Amino acid sequence: MNLNAPIAVIDSGLGGLTVAKAIHQVLPHERILYFGDTARLPYGSKSPKTVANFVKQIICWLRQYRCKHVVLACNTATALALPAVRNEFPALSISGVIEPGAKAAIVAAGSRDIPCIGVIATEATIRSRAYERAIGRRRHHAKILLKSTPLLVPMIEEGRGCDDPLVSLALRQYLHPLVERRLDVLVLGCTHYPLLKPAVLRILPAQVPVIDSAQMCAQDVERRLMRSHLLSPMHRSNEHWLTPVVTDDAERFQTLASRFLGEPVPAPHTLSVDQLYIATAAVAAERYVKSA
Ligand code: DGL
Repeated sequence: MNLNAPIAVIDSGLGGLTVAKAIHQVLPHERILYFGDTARLPYGSKSPKTVANFVKQIICWLRQYRCKHVVLACNTATALALPAVRNEFPALSISGVIEPGAKAAIVAAGSRDIPCIGVIATEATIRSRAYERAIGRRRHHAKILLKSTPLLVPMIEEGRGCDDPLVSLALRQYLHPLVERRLDVLVLGCTHYPLLKPAVLRILPAQVPVIDSAQMCAQDVERRLMRSHLLSPMHRSNEHWLTPVVTDDAERFQTLASRFLGEPVPAPHTLSVDQLYIATAAVAAERYVKSA
């Protein structure tokens, strides 16, 4: 394995940049290949089978880069596809965002007897009950309030920010029922949502910690690379740390990504969904030849 190989970070759109940014802060020498499946966004309203297929296709296409690690920087993809892709690509190191997010929520809940943990996420993530299971594995006695918040991803991808009146209205509608039930911790169970964190904090009581999994996920990636002796030794001053690839609307992605990261982002390479199908067929053909 080449130590200078990139880490792949996958999301349906902009959301995974919150994770890419956190990884860059923890591991500044690493190159990050960012894949935003903007042509097929949102993932959160799709079925488990569809999302798992999307993720498998992306991983087949990524094979040419021989990535040292793949992060599903998308809660929906983690909830619906992580076990399936681990099973299908056993030699590839792959991690997700739900376990690190659940861990952070438990830490934030502290020593309360029965903490009340709220999770907002896409419809698919909520339906999967993945957070309930991940939190339940660590704390048997926790009250978990799950709330799907499907309007947030389209608004973020439209470029609406914290001061947008529609965003404030939607957040108030979504969060008030949780606040009324006196939640102790709120988990942002979608990697897009940290982009609205200041607006969320304005609505919640001051003592309620707001968890996003990006930081914990970055530390998890660092641990995995350290354990397998794959940390990159080189400082690459002349090369941007981020290589973005999208399946549609590269210009909008570049503008919003640069605004979010606070630095100019290189023009994304645009890939058609057909190229993903071709890569998937090539992997299937290769496996067939090997097994024949
Ligand atoms: N950012 C993604 C997540 O964490 C998904 C958004 C979507 O495509 O619905 O769930």
